[in-house]
Amino acid sequence: MPDNVDFLVIGSGAAGLSFALRVAGFGSVAIVTKKESAESNTNYAQGGLASVMDHEDHFDLHIQDTMTAGAGLCRPEVVELVVRNGPAVVQELRDWGSDFTTRNGKLDLGREGGHTRNRIVHASDLTGREIERAMLEAVGKHPNIRIFEHHFALELITRHHLGDKVTWQTKDNKCYGAYVFDTRTNTVETIPAKTTLVATGGVGQVYLHTTNPTIATGDGIAMAYRAKAEIANMEFMQFHPTSLAVPGANSFLISEAVRGKGARLRAKDGNTFMKKYDPRAELAPRDIVARAIDHHLKKTGESCVYLDVTHLTPGEIRDSFPHITRTCLEHGIDITRQWIPVVPAAHYLCGGIVTDTRGATSIEALYCAGEASCTGLHGANRLASNSLLEAVVFSKRAAENAREYARAATCQNDIPQWDDSGTVNAEEAILIDHNKRELQQIMWNYVGIVRSDLRLQRAHRRTGLIFEETEDFYQRTRVSESLCELRNMIANAYMIIRSALSRKESRGLHYTTDYPEQRESERKDTII
Ligand code: FAD
Ligand code: SIN
Repeated sequence: MPDNVDFLVIGSGAAGLSFALRVAGFGSVAIVTKKESAESNTNYAQGGLASVMDHEDHFDLHIQDTMTAGAGLCRPEVVELVVRNGPAVVQELRDWGSDFTTRNGKLDLGREGGHTRNRIVHASDLTGREIERAMLEAVGKHPNIRIFEHHFALELITRHHLGDKVTWQTKDNKCYGAYVFDTRTNTVETIPAKTTLVATGGVGQVYLHTTNPTIATGDGIAMAYRAKAEIANMEFMQFHPTSLAVPGANSFLISEAVRGKGARLRAKDGNTFMKKYDPRAELAPRDIVARAIDHHLKKTGESCVYLDVTHLTPGEIRDSFPHITRTCLEHGIDITRQWIPVVPAAHYLCGGIVTDTRGATSIEALYCAGEASCTGLHGANRLASNSLLEAVVFSKRAAENAREYARAATCQNDIPQWDDSGTVNAEEAILIDHNKRELQQIMWNYVGIVRSDLRLQRAHRRTGLIFEETEDFYQRTRVSESLCELRNMIANAYMIIRSALSRKESRGLHYTTDYPEQRESERKDTII
């Protein structure tokens, strides 16, 4: 590990890697990532990246679709910025080596819910894996970038660690790098940095059923919360309508692009039902589709609904969705002739660490991009395939900002080492697992697609108990990755519940039976 760096990047998904590539010409870069480099939400993205790439399409239409999905909470200047940067970042991704699907020499543009035009740039149905592969290759070739796998960021180093009192009112807090836990040697390292980027992704693992891989425990948001950065809109958790429902199988997404190709949702008896809920039917924004499925399942007591893509020929299905076809077949479902059993699952967090339009957080020298951030693009509901776009556009903004900042900055050199004296090794590690499972169940049962004050208050009380037990355990034991992840998940759950309780209306992804209407007086961000 270097003594210090110009740019510390926490996370190796789309946001972290693209930031690293853009700052590498201006100083030393260390990327820390808690598993193997490729393990990220990015790597599992299927549908693609939304961008206006066709003369039939127009920036204003993409802007309007994003704002419509966002239900009154998008920041118009951010939407405009991100949408207009789309074509340039698609080109940048291609320059770094991403090989997107083309037809007759032009990008093949898919369609997803809430989009009024075909504008999803994709690499078959494995878009994220292709973007991740290409960027990791480019990062690997750059002499200024070092990547540290199995390095888990524990805490952001701020003035608090230098002995100053930091409160939510402190205006001039500053980030000096991070404490990072090497999970193979079980040692905590101090990484002083001129600038730090949080690119740690989302929090899907807080829920029992999620499309997200196990890395998505909201570590960056929890670290920023403890460092007293501004966090917003945590109640807006997006549930993807169609994750594969096969008992015992790992969660697997059935891309919205399948509905984009005309697939229909059917109840067990074969009837379609989406038209009853929205005239756009299967291609309504996904909060509507997820709620409709949830309502149908609760009403009928059935355990899943079905996605039927058999209107396409087997050749068309295999050609458009080779990965989905293969994976379903592994679970005994031949999607060329059988319906796919699906249920909604937690998918994407619209809230997160607040940034300005240049990726800066409320803490000096701390930047954020990607799913961990709340930039104002998504508002109360993200439009499909706008997140990879946001990650790559905002990492560019943050990179420009951080480059400028780093030029005149110096590293702090009197940072105290991490102190874990007096702690003992964990004997009750199994309790971590129990508490994690309980937390996920509470969030799924009480803070899911349809909420109420009663359910949220119950979740609040029960997570409070898990919090106390876990903190007590944390004080008595040496750090471990699973314990730190659990602490971070609890912090995120707390912020989601608290934000949900404070929103006295239904808007976008937050639907509560106590306040089923949208209220103009509530049209504001929920700031923590
Ligand atoms: P991630 O890609 O999740 O990367 C986070 C990184 O941080 C990982 O490397 C992780 O290991 C690391 N990390 C986390 N915590 C720590 C820590 N404490 N210390 C060190 N490292 C840490 N969006 C679209 O726009 N289009 C799609 O088609 C699409 N499909 C999706 C399909 C699936 C199944 C999923 C789960 C998501 C999909 N999304 C899609 C959402 C999109 O993939 C993510 O929002 C986006 O990739 C997030 O990128 P990121 O760089 O912010 O985070
Ligand atoms: C999908 O392919 O359905 C996921 C798209 C997204 O989450 O943006």
